[in-house]
Amino acid sequence: MGTVKISFKLNGCDMNVEVLPNTLLVDLLRDVLGLKGTKVGCREGECGVCTVLLEGEAVNSCILPAVKVGGKSVVTIEGLVKENGQLHPIQQAFISEGAVQCGFCTPGMIMNAKALLDKHPHPSDGEIRSGISGVLCRCTGYRKIVQAIKTASQAGGRK
Ligand code: FES
Ligand code: FES
Repeated sequence: MGTVKISFKLNGCDMNVEVLPNTLLVDLLRDVLGLKGTKVGCREGECGVCTVLLEGEAVNSCILPAVKVGGKSVVTIEGLVKENGQLHPIQQAFISEGAVQCGFCTPGMIMNAKALLDKHPHPSDGEIRSGISGVLCRCTGYRKIVQAIKTASQAGGRK
């Protein structure tokens, strides 16, 4: 199978890579580009731990062919950290609210929270629950996760 050249923005940087037509975005990110923050769970679009932002929308990278991101902008959990290493307000709130247990769902939760707060800076609890409904937390720590997103929204968590 021949490879396909794609160019896209990844966490604000220009990327030029060659992928197989059936390479999935999550595998490009983790195995080729070494960004392991995005997790892999079901590989069926059901658990949400592989969520990244594509043009600002939360998408499951385990079911998205990498060729589809050509010419577009992708943001992963690594892209939320500032150049000086400062965590994003949503990441900070997950820590301060104790919303991380095993941490497996955390990148997916945070990327869905980012997409939500970018659109609705001050969501209700119901909107927060709906915003993270595509991500499964095996540790069932949903109450603190919702609180963390609320805390981030009060701290101006879009930035
Ligand atoms: S690994 Fe992508 S939705 Fe579960
Ligand atoms: S913190 Fe363990 S899966 Fe959510």
